[in-house]
Amino acid sequence: LLNRRGIIKNGLLLSGACALPRFSLAMARPTAGNGPEGRYILRADYGSHQLVADYSTEILGFNGQFPAPVIRVKQGEVLRVRFENHLNEASTIHWHGIRLPIDMDGVPGISQAPVAPGESFDYEFRCADAGTFWYHPHINSIRQLGMGMVGVLIVEEKAASPYEEHIIGLKDWRLDRRGGYLPLSIPREAARDGTLGTINTVNGRQRPTIEIGAGQLVRLRIANMDNTRVYRPSIDGVSSRILSLDGSPLTPHRPFELTPLGAGMRMDLAFQAPDTENQEFILADRKGRFNIELCRLKTVARGAERQGDTVATIKPENLPTLPPNPIPQPDLHKAESLSFVFEWQGALSPTGKDGKVDHSFWLINRRAWGDHSHEHLPEPLATLERGKTYIVDLHNATPHHHPIHLHGMIFTVLTSDKRAVIPYQSDTILLEKNERARIAFVADNPGRWMFHCHVIEHMKTGLMGYLAVV
Ligand code: C2O
Ligand code: CU
Ligand code: CU
Repeated sequence: LLNRRGIIKNGLLLSGACALPRFSLAMARPTAGNGPEGRYILRADYGSHQLVADYSTEILGFNGQFPAPVIRVKQGEVLRVRFENHLNEASTIHWHGIRLPIDMDGVPGISQAPVAPGESFDYEFRCADAGTFWYHPHINSIRQLGMGMVGVLIVEEKAASPYEEHIIGLKDWRLDRRGGYLPLSIPREAARDGTLGTINTVNGRQRPTIEIGAGQLVRLRIANMDNTRVYRPSIDGVSSRILSLDGSPLTPHRPFELTPLGAGMRMDLAFQAPDTENQEFILADRKGRFNIELCRLKTVARGAERQGDTVATIKPENLPTLPPNPIPQPDLHKAESLSFVFEWQGALSPTGKDGKVDHSFWLINRRAWGDHSHEHLPEPLATLERGKTYIVDLHNATPHHHPIHLHGMIFTVLTSDKRAVIPYQSDTILLEKNERARIAFVADNPGRWMFHCHVIEHMKTGLMGYLAVV
């Protein structure tokens, strides 16, 4: 919580101001731990949650709840999570956007064995980068993510935050009016932009009102945890800055511009709330002329601090910046080139095993990812030499967008033929239809790293592969 008097006394924000961020969601407190940081317990379990008025919906949830517990860890510290699977299907946890050792990456058949019903798995890794990340299973994803197994992971910067923080966890649900599930995937939609939900939620509620402190510096951690939808978040009536994209800080931060967030992507926005109470702002998903209200932000007095002081107004460009993360710098002069083409193949062939329909709609470099058992892993899309820089040409040769995500390493987006790019770091790039883009990264993390579209149905119908770093 920002100390208002502190601001007034010092004119501008003190970087060292001892400020505790205010959280809008309950935290999962580490239970008695095996180390100084404690250990979280996350249990995959059945539960129910009210998403539609008057009805409750069966969910799959972390600890049986939605929203899932928010996991917090300080940058540079070790996160320990015991994952217990109480479902009667296998599961795992993948830590989206975190650079970690391959055996903690949570991909069954690639980095670990699936966690069978009744079993548990201990995840333990150091979080080198601060930012807004998230976690989800990497198995039966249409169902497990679609029914609620998504949660926010926050790695806090080392210095105390001057911001009052709020999580905006976006997720749609495919429900009818009584809270029952509609089919989570429809093949003809999977072959296009993916099957959209019918109910938008922010932190598990439809159009909630989130209270923000009048005069406070506010950081919204917006996370698109939906299987399918592209959100274009925008706040009417405040002048905000983009603090970070996909967990990687923009240093310095940049003026707000409409930024489509594909499935899996995040954006942190910062602004100063007006110093008057009961001001309301709408956070909307901008769809051309139609804006869909996601939630409201409403200013409230922050108790004891409310004593007739006036708060210093900070120009948006002077809002505190986040320090960069320690991502290795690509050496573009000594880089190797890779190229990936994403294509639509449109095969809806009823020839799968067990008489099951085998939908395979998408290709990466002419190959579709099928159902692979551990013993029959396909070849990697490419084998990379550890320590080298790679410049990767991406060509989306389809008439649909694809949020392309890489595990294990953070890349720099260099260019696009659809928009001007000021290079920035990311773990996911949303390719528009027919877009060509270039990214670069240092292949410093040994392992087999998934490289896939985060529209879950696209990844399940072919648009997935992996890069081997050896
Ligand atoms: Cu959110 Cu394979 O990732
Ligand atoms: Cu990931
Ligand atoms: Cu896709």
